[in-house]
Formats: sequence, structure tokens, C-alpha cells
Amino acid sequence: MFDTDLRCFIRNYYVILPLDIMTTRQDTIWEKFLSPVFRLLIDEKALREYNDSVDWEKECNYIRRPDVITPTYYSSQNFHGIKGGYLTSGAAVTYDPITQYVVPPNETWVRQGLIDAVRVQPRRILDIGCGTGTGTIMLKRAYPEAEVIGLDLSPYMLVRSQHKANEAGLNINWRHSDAEKTGFPDASFDLITASLLFHETPPAVTVGILRECLRLLTTGGQVLVLDGNQTTMRQLEFLHNVFEEPYIRDFSAGSVDAWMGAAGFEAVQTQDILLIHQVTSAVKPIINGETAANKNVRTYTPYNTGLQGFPSPA
Ligand SMILES: C[S@@+](CC[C@H](N)C(=O)[O-])C[C@H]1O[C@@H](n2cnc3c(N)ncnc32)[C@H](O)[C@@H]1O
Repeated sequence: MFDTDLRCFIRNYYVILPLDIMTTRQDTIWEKFLSPVFRLLIDEKALREYNDSVDWEKECNYIRRPDVITPTYYSSQNFHGIKGGYLTSGAAVTYDPITQYVVPPNETWVRQGLIDAVRVQPRRILDIGCGTGTGTIMLKRAYPEAEVIGLDLSPYMLVRSQHKANEAGLNINWRHSDAEKTGFPDASFDLITASLLFHETPPAVTVGILRECLRLLTTGGQVLVLDGNQTTMRQLEFLHNVFEEPYIRDFSAGSVDAWMGAAGFEAVQTQDILLIHQVTSAVKPIINGETAANKNVRTYTPYNTGLQGFPSPA
């Protein structure tokens, strides 16, 4: 099972865009030329040992929330060509070793582009679609005083995140949730981030998630989105045919700026990172006649951190 997952994952990954396909093709450029190279770069033995050392079902059951409904766009796709997509240990174990090579020119450097775009002093940060938590961990390191929550639909990815944070000695909370329906109270966060998420969601879901971000942010709070550069991706449309993926065409044809606007954000700005990636920043405006004295600030009670009474972001 794990070997099959790894093979499918390697076959279907391209640049920063994990490929979401229902069937796997054997005749792609990737399959013929690139996949063998990646197999040489990856320590499969170490991955297998780690995979076998974890009681996935036990740990997933601990983190899984029974009230979370997995949306169809997510459960119907074999993300990365892996049967079961992100809802497998194979996805969680293979994500990092591949991603380090497929986010050019350097994964850490690209992720730092998002952190460099932070314009608020965050006290509570939500990283949606956090995956294995690489970006979440960088946020916690950049803002050690902030309460940081990584949220994902996949308990498997969250188990991997938790192991990484524990190894790093970082106190980060991991939350199993749908980013479109988080269940957090209004105005709980002053910074929300999403890295490499929206190329994997249909545009209507993207706008729904951004509306949820607007609800969750305090007035003046910031949302930051890191993903593939949509302008460049439009020029490379031939790759869409080589590497099948259900939502990638919609993402590259669309505009994160427009989706931010549709969700109600203002001060929307996108900056390129080396023409390969982009970081979009936007701010929650004053809504519904709020005044400076009547800000949309509520007390957020952390669900398991023991930080009750932690002041609300403002
Ligand atoms: C390509 S990975 C990106 C992971 C991580 N942010 C990173 O930068 O490496 C996309 C992640 O989004 C998660 N995801 C997709 N749709 C989601 C949703 N509606 N709510 C929460 N997580 C979602 C997937 O489970 C997966 O872990």
C-alpha cells in the first residue's frame, strides 16, 4: 500500500502543483523522465520506517472530529494520484520529501515570501489547509508569542504535523476541520494564511473559504495566500494536459484577487515570487457600520491549549 502510494505520488507531482487525478497515466513526461530522478532523491527506506512506526488509526482517531463533514470535491478525488488522496498515511509521509524538491528555487525561501508579507502584529494565527505543517511551523518560529493553529481536513496530515512540531519543541494546535466551516467564533484571528491550498479547491469552494476567513478575522485583520503564479500558469497550459488535475485549470484561469474581492476583502494586492509563485494579501474592512469603538472583536476560547483568557486579537 505504502509503496503504491509513493509511486503514485512521485509520478504525479509537478513543480508546486500536486496533481489530483482519478486515473494515473503511464505516458506522461513525468512518468518517463522525472519520476525516476525523484526516486533517486528520496530515502524510501526511512519513509517506510517512519510510516511503520506510527499507529495511524489510533493517532488519527485522537485528532479526528466527528462533526467534520468531508466535502465531495475533496473525497471524490485521488489527490496526488493516491487512492484515497489526503486521507491516507502515504500522502502524509510522502508530502514533505517531494515538496522540498518541487517548490523552486527553494521551498523555505518561497514560504518565507508569505511571512515577509505579514503586515499585522499577530497574536492569534490560523493556517488553513496546513497539510504537514511546514508553513505553520515557520509562522510559529517567526511569531513565537502568537497562538498558532494549523487546520486541515486530513487527520493523517495533522498527525504528521503534530510529530514535526513536537520534534521542534513548538506549541502549535492542530485542528481537524473544513476551512469553509471551521466552527470558530467570529473575529477569532488577526492573521489567516493559506499556502498551496487554492490550486486544489474549486473556485466556488475557494470563495466560500475566503468568506469564512473574513468572518474569522478581526477588523483590520490580514489574510495571506501563497500559491502558483496564475499568470505564468496560463502561459503553460500545455502542462495541464500532461499532468491531469481536476481543479488546476480553474485556478490558473481565475484570479485570487477577484476571489478575495468576491469574499468581501479590501486592499487586495498580489506580488510575484520569481514569476513562479504569488503571494496575495488582503485586509478585512470595517463592515456593517462598525466604528473604531465598536470593533468586531470577540473572545476566542482555545479548545485545548489551556490559554483561556488569552486576550482577543484586535
Ligand atoms: C497541497 S497541500 C498544502 C499543504 C500546506 N499548506 C503546504 O503549504 O505545504 C493542501 C492541503 O489542503 C488541505 N485541504 C484541502 N481542502 C481543504 C479544506 N476545505 N479544509 C481544510 N483543508 C483542506 C488538504 O488536506 C491538504 O493537506
